[in-house]
Amino acid sequence: NKKITIAIDGFSSTGKSTLAKQVASKLGYAYVDTGAMYRAITLFAMKKGYIGAGFFDKESLIAVLAEVKLQFKFNEDLGYGEMFLNDENVEQQIRKIAVSGFVSKVAEISEVRSKLVEQQQQMGKDKGIVMDGRDIGTVVFPDAELKIFMTATAATRAQRRYQELLAKGDLVTHEAVLKNVEERDYIDTHRENSPLKIAPNATTIDNSNLTKEAQFDLVMQLVTNVL
Ligand code: C5P
Repeated sequence: NKKITIAIDGFSSTGKSTLAKQVASKLGYAYVDTGAMYRAITLFAMKKGYIGAGFFDKESLIAVLAEVKLQFKFNEDLGYGEMFLNDENVEQQIRKIAVSGFVSKVAEISEVRSKLVEQQQQMGKDKGIVMDGRDIGTVVFPDAELKIFMTATAATRAQRRYQELLAKGDLVTHEAVLKNVEERDYIDTHRENSPLKIAPNATTIDNSNLTKEAQFDLVMQLVTNVL
């Protein structure tokens, strides 16, 4: 029974985590949401007062990075691991738009990236893992057997994220969500460290007009081809 590594990268709000969870549960693989890790460090920086509207004290954040403990703890009911920051469950807090507004700034820092990449590589060392993010197929697991790159129009993505935030009770406007999606994509694709780009050998999926079911079937076919 061969176990593989599945890397799912792409723009924000393309449904990477939904797809990754479906595939992981079908295959009995572990699922890791690397965005949650960048979000948790961002939340930490916000709580410490290192980052806020118009300011970012990167040096202070870098100086205490070693104190930041990130763990995924499996939740039976949800069927995936929830993000814990220094032993506190931050799963709800990290999804708020306030965190989304700063996360791409934090994710640009090379010290942050190397800390997280190392932890991610450790989690995937035995394969049998589906990991989603921005640099999984390019940096974290360049040898992954299957690499997917997900995209959709910015309008489609903003609409999905807007519905999701509203459903959770986060009071946002569609305009603010669209602006955040576009800003993050810009920073993520233009940064110097591990910019978001299509990995060699990745299969690109534009799901603007694909149902979740059709997308899942397509990916399971790709999995079958490499297994
Ligand atoms: O996946 P999600 O949208 O939750 O990720 C939040 C942010 O974290 C991204 O916009 C990006 O700036 C950063 N990120 C990253 N590398 C990853 C995963 C996320 O830079 N592997």
